[in-house]
Amino acid sequence: MLRILVVFGTRPEAIKMSPLIYELQQHPDLETFLCVTSQHRQMLKQVLKAFHLKPNFDLEVMTDHQTLTEITYRVLVGMETVLNQLKPDLVLVHGDTTTTFSVSLAAAYQQIKVGHVEAGMRTHQKYLPYPEELNRRLVGSLADLHFAPTDKEANHLYREGISKDSVYITGNTAIDALSMTIQENYDHPLIKQVQGKKMILITAHRRENLGEPMDNMFQAIRRLVETYSDVVAVFPIHLNPIIQKKANSILRHHPRILLVDPLDVMDFHNIAARSYLILTDSGGIQEEAPSLHAPVLVMRDVTERPEVVRVGAAKLVGTDENRIFEEASILIKDRKAYQSMTGINNPYGDGKASKRIVQGILHHYRLTDYPPTPFR
Ligand code: UD1
Ligand code: UDP
Repeated sequence: MLRILVVFGTRPEAIKMSPLIYELQQHPDLETFLCVTSQHRQMLKQVLKAFHLKPNFDLEVMTDHQTLTEITYRVLVGMETVLNQLKPDLVLVHGDTTTTFSVSLAAAYQQIKVGHVEAGMRTHQKYLPYPEELNRRLVGSLADLHFAPTDKEANHLYREGISKDSVYITGNTAIDALSMTIQENYDHPLIKQVQGKKMILITAHRRENLGEPMDNMFQAIRRLVETYSDVVAVFPIHLNPIIQKKANSILRHHPRILLVDPLDVMDFHNIAARSYLILTDSGGIQEEAPSLHAPVLVMRDVTERPEVVRVGAAKLVGTDENRIFEEASILIKDRKAYQSMTGINNPYGDGKASKRIVQGILHHYRLTDYPPTPFR
């Protein structure tokens, strides 16, 4: 029996690892355990509840205004105990958070194999996004097994000298998660509240955007709502106190700006699928966008997800107030421009990434002769 420890700590990791946990649990040769670092607290609990997951270990690392050093240190210390106790054959991590890096380092220190889900994403700019580009490069060099979403990410890894034998091209598990959350007959008070108007859904949280870029983003959103009377902005504000304060000071007290708590993933996906337009600096939402049938304006200067821009479902608009306002205005007023960004196939997955990852693990450990068919 192969003992697998899945570890994550933030909302997006949890959303994208949940379908994989279900898939791992179904296999008789695999014994699966879950450890959460709780780098996020409430936002992580929302996902665990939605997917009915009960962790075996919780490191409870989150503090207000936590620094990268604090997260790294607490996770390293906590993981040492968990790894000593459980002695897993393989630790599975996801993406590019500080949890991902610290857990990989803790496992590598004990010479325990690391499998990296969503491997190989790069902007090739050291601090964009910050600290994710650092984390993902470091995890790439610590991991033994790499699950790249598409051949683009696999090629990044090959160029860095990673052996082809250790890379599986699987698609992104974000798309697997959507097939578990999106419902046709879905209702929510927010959907009723915005009926008859164009809903613009907003999220913002990137560390490099805190400060002036985020002021610009929020000013642009206020201008949009003040300019177009048929627009309603819905903003589930990240629990970071810096963002809470800024959003409340720039966006509060407008009847068509709805500031709400972070939404449960079921609510978020279903509301996003019914929104007119999404403005975001999120990574995961760029992957989900084509399946949500809403155009996405990405409020960042570079993206590690260029495929979604290439297929035309998202546009990079940076963090300049005028640019965000103008690009969103085009999509509000120009039906043709709007339609050209919808109805696009998702380049990131077909809902079977988790199955391919499990097959990749079995193949790596010689429990099957057959590698998964790569996602194309
Ligand atoms: C983290 C990840 C980022 C990922 C994002 C997803 C790092 C360094 N950053 O960024 O890669 O894109 O999660 O959302 O790994 N907070 C709460 N409750 C919560 C969550 C956060 O109160 O449930 C507050 C805390 O005050 C915390 C702060 O938000 O100190 C920032 O959280 P942190 O995880 O450090 O950074 P994120 O911006 O969320
Ligand atoms: N999300 C959610 N509730 C919200 C906002 C976002 O469940 O109120 C989901 C979203 O669908 C996506 C993930 O959270 O799956 C993205 O997380 P985030 O933007 O915080 O992180 P990133 O992807 O940028 O790392």
